[in-house]
Amino acid sequence: MPSDPTIKRIGLLTGGGDCPGLNAVIRAVSKSAMFQHDIEVVGILNGYEGLIRNQVEPLYAPDVSGILTRGGTILGSNNRISPQHFPVEENGEITYVDATDRCLQTIEEHRIDATIVIGGDGTMACTMPLIEAGVPCIGVPKTIDNDIIGTDLTFGFTTAMTTATMSLDRLHTTADSHNRVMVCELMGRNAGWLTLAAGIASGSDVILLPEIPFSIDLICEYLEDRMRSPAGFSIIACAEGAHPEGEGQIVSQVVEDSVEPIRLGGIGHLVAAAIEERTRFETRTTVLGHVQRGGPPVAMDRVLATRFGVAALELLVSGLQNRMVVWRNGDIDHIPLSDVVGGQRLVPMGHPMIHAASAVRTCFGQDL
Ligand code: F6P
Repeated sequence: MPSDPTIKRIGLLTGGGDCPGLNAVIRAVSKSAMFQHDIEVVGILNGYEGLIRNQVEPLYAPDVSGILTRGGTILGSNNRISPQHFPVEENGEITYVDATDRCLQTIEEHRIDATIVIGGDGTMACTMPLIEAGVPCIGVPKTIDNDIIGTDLTFGFTTAMTTATMSLDRLHTTADSHNRVMVCELMGRNAGWLTLAAGIASGSDVILLPEIPFSIDLICEYLEDRMRSPAGFSIIACAEGAHPEGEGQIVSQVVEDSVEPIRLGGIGHLVAAAIEERTRFETRTTVLGHVQRGGPPVAMDRVLATRFGVAALELLVSGLQNRMVVWRNGDIDHIPLSDVVGGQRLVPMGHPMIHAASAVRTCFGQDL
């Protein structure tokens, strides 16, 4: 592969909420840069905050050895700070400034010729001003939500799906013992991929997705039937972004400075309370939370992360820039990084997973 001679040192950054597999990408990019292309690597700490605050450290081979299986990110991450909306305190008052120039200074000071940014659509949005200023960038899509436009799969999703499935399996046995309804609230923001996949994999009886507003009456009707069957218990996989028809999502927190300020959460408890009130079935709620983001990546995510990392570096050295690596039709591909900004990949109504779940009598809280 012809190497771009202008790229002698790259900066690596992990942005947004973490997910399993980030370290596997860091390792893949760094090792292939160092060993295949004789390119130096520096790590930018804590996402875009590190670029603004000039927190940059060289990465050497020993730094990226032994991290393939480790969850989290050795670089640190951040889903609050955006260079375009950076809070500064002046005379006791917070004002927001565009800190793109500070990022460019850091890039110049550390002689960074190109950056590889590992993140979701928020991180890719933060990358656009750097691209516009002439910094070559390549994106690598990460998130447990699997909601990034242009890629069929993000790394981190398969691990989160596995964790969620195992948790739902555990709820099954206790639900069975006590003849209870168990509601499990899962992450995913506005996208139902995680809940849909884990719901199917665990054989959940009801799956509630943000894309399909639900009717509590329909859910209760279904549960009345199911609870009278020999099974006598029920599992509900409920996405944090799910909501009743005609009503909005439940916001648990607004993180003012964040690129994506809305944090969802609380719908699981509301669904459980409504079910118990109407049916009198004993109902409990589990909010799985950040457990879904933690821990070592499953084998599939290690493979995907390694392939993404190597592909990102290869794009750079072949002279391509401002692209994001994607997984499409069972292989690696790449698209303009700008394509993913501001959009979300949601579950389409006719998706084969919805069809399959409906065929085995899973309730989506709506007539489909
Ligand atoms: O985007 C990943 C994600 O885990 C979402 O599923 C969830 O809604 C959000 O991040 C939680 O954000 P935080 O870590 O700020 O609570």
